[in-house]
Amino acid sequence: MFRLAAFALTLLALAGGMEKAKAQPGAAPAPPPALAVLPRPVSVAAGAGSFQLRSGGAIVVAPGDQGARRAAQRLADLLLRTRGLRLAIRTGKRGGAIGFARIPGLPAEGYRLTVTPRGTTIAASDDAGLFYGGITLWQLATAGGENRIPATAIEDAPRFAWRGLMLDSARHFQSPAFIRRLIDWMAASKLNRLHWHLVDDQGWRLQIRKYPRLTAIGAWRVPASAPGAPPLSREGGFYSQAEVRAIVAYAAARHVTIVPEIEMPGHALSAIRAYPRLGMGVPIPPGIESDWGIFPWLYNVDEPTIGFLDDVLDEVMALFPSTYIHVGGDEAVKDQWKADPAVQAKIRALGLKDENALQGWLVKRIEEHLAAHGRRLIGWDEILEGGVAPSAAVMSWRGISGAIAAAQGGHDTVLSPAPILYFDNIQSPGGEGQPGRGSVVSLGDVYAFDPAPATLTVDQQRHILGLQGNLWTEHVRGDARAAFMAFPRALAVAELGWSPATPRDFLDFADRVADQLDRLAKLGLGASTAAFAPIAAESFDTKSGLVTIKLANQIGSEMRYTLDGTMPGATAALYTAPLSFVVPARLRARGFRGGHALPGGFDRIYDPASVRRRGNAELRTCAARLNLALEDDAPAQGRRAVFLTDIVNPCWIYEKAPMDGIASIAVDVGQLPFNFQIGHDRDHIVFTPPRTAEGEMEVRADTCTGEPIAVLPLAPAAHNPGVTTLRATIRPLSGAHDLCFTYTARGPDPLWAVAAVQLEAPR
Ligand code: ACM
Repeated sequence: MFRLAAFALTLLALAGGMEKAKAQPGAAPAPPPALAVLPRPVSVAAGAGSFQLRSGGAIVVAPGDQGARRAAQRLADLLLRTRGLRLAIRTGKRGGAIGFARIPGLPAEGYRLTVTPRGTTIAASDDAGLFYGGITLWQLATAGGENRIPATAIEDAPRFAWRGLMLDSARHFQSPAFIRRLIDWMAASKLNRLHWHLVDDQGWRLQIRKYPRLTAIGAWRVPASAPGAPPLSREGGFYSQAEVRAIVAYAAARHVTIVPEIEMPGHALSAIRAYPRLGMGVPIPPGIESDWGIFPWLYNVDEPTIGFLDDVLDEVMALFPSTYIHVGGDEAVKDQWKADPAVQAKIRALGLKDENALQGWLVKRIEEHLAAHGRRLIGWDEILEGGVAPSAAVMSWRGISGAIAAAQGGHDTVLSPAPILYFDNIQSPGGEGQPGRGSVVSLGDVYAFDPAPATLTVDQQRHILGLQGNLWTEHVRGDARAAFMAFPRALAVAELGWSPATPRDFLDFADRVADQLDRLAKLGLGASTAAFAPIAAESFDTKSGLVTIKLANQIGSEMRYTLDGTMPGATAALYTAPLSFVVPARLRARGFRGGHALPGGFDRIYDPASVRRRGNAELRTCAARLNLALEDDAPAQGRRAVFLTDIVNPCWIYEKAPMDGIASIAVDVGQLPFNFQIGHDRDHIVFTPPRTAEGEMEVRADTCTGEPIAVLPLAPAAHNPGVTTLRATIRPLSGAHDLCFTYTARGPDPLWAVAAVQLEAPR
């Protein structure tokens, strides 16, 4: 129903005789065909009939129009890869199945797409518009099963020029092949800026010919492991200049601009490790580069260091044609500058107020260097604190206040506020068992973000270049996880960045997300299904032996289920109320919209043990002060456990544990390195002193203080870097109780975590 309303609002009468289908009197009105285009176009007029796309058809471009030829090639390539359709590209005036044409005066990146039963035309004034018209046509052609495009007239153009995604390749490295796939997925969704975070404390990822140690030293580290655990292998990597050139060209052919980021003056430990003369002379403890958090190491501001930064940026500018060059600027804690007499003397000599002003001075120097090469500086919102030239653009991440201050000060700005556009956050409670930051940012949360805050006047809103999602990768190791965290949330950024502010209908959007994920899967994407997959709240009644399951999914769609082990199809039982059944049983469920199964599913076997078991993702942390879903540091190869942990208050609750007849408890525990630079917050992590050398896991009922009902010494786990099962008797209780799990320790390293809890009945 929401879907129909949204579609109706976008229907416009079209000159040229297209008719809307007439409803049969007495019959239920036929729903209009789903408009499976994402981002939603500005205006759509449905026509009569449809155009059948067949292998052997032609795409026609005008002679000499290279932009049209490239757009045609991309369209042909997408149809081949996702549908196996083979279309030829011909040069000529007209007469092909699909034609590309130029119409001067259409808006930048905009296009006009006309589909009739006889043929299809994509018109635009610029190359990007032709390309995006092709993307829309491809989406229309791949919405159903028949390569049939409903007759349509679409007028479309983006709301914002900057529709971005930031990828952190510094914390964890991704393969060049992944970067190309990411560009494919972005371009297929009309995202057009890939902000590439190439430098951070943990890694320098870009080959710089003049300074080979940046990658020889700075691109590698040994990941942290728990104390006493065997060291892990060195990991890392970097992108050679040849690889970068190829990636930049690949992106340009898909109208994606890569905006490189070279961090300064903080987040620069990888460079300072490689060339200590760039730093403040403060020793670097071995292995610190494998910690996460905010580090104190800063570049110095001597002329040779500024010369180094200029040299690096010269090579960066030679590789990346982007007008904007990102120079970081965030989280540069000034302790090392404050403590250094030479820096203090420089602040005085330059007549500056303080260290923030010194950062501002450095940024201005860098900005002049970029401007001399025709480029513009962009930085995180901290660059406003030191004063920055009006031509600099500001990327707002500490909420949107940076964007508001920037726009009010006349700077262009990009909105990428934490936590809502921070795609390292998990996407559902429990995080689907994947690591990440532990605040839930759902697809719906992102879709509800307002990229044009009403606090800004209309004039100030003109400074908003657009928005982007940021994929930080401290907890996102490897290509597959990066894809999983970025999508489908990046599709919400695509729609917010492209489509008009109204109408905005989440269910209609979710339908189009499901279609788009289908297409992108054929381009190699494995996305999160958290928005669609049912999740279950479970309770077990020991007296009746009944388990009761409450299902829900994020988009609130219809759900269908089976209890016989078969995959639920469109005619399976409809979920309408909590389900109660005796164990053993297998429950499978999927979301549905309009008779179509949605991505992801639920599948669980319930037996007498499972109804008394909770995995880590089904526990909640007691206070949720700094929740992280952390991956175990072992095994070195293969699947690792993931622990949702509050790192400043490690404490978990098993809600409503069925305690009747329980005589013992088994707790699976893992240990993690405490590799977090969180400053003085570390002093506030307090533990009860242990009674045994290695400490004990303690279990309490209905409270986290007082007498434990079970105590499990950690000694058997102390020398196992993986997950260990501890077992102990438990004080008998009847009924359901919230069980609280904490541990005694001398300090936060290692950090212990509960992987799973099994309540054991006597045999
Ligand atoms: C940031 O998240 N430090 C930009």
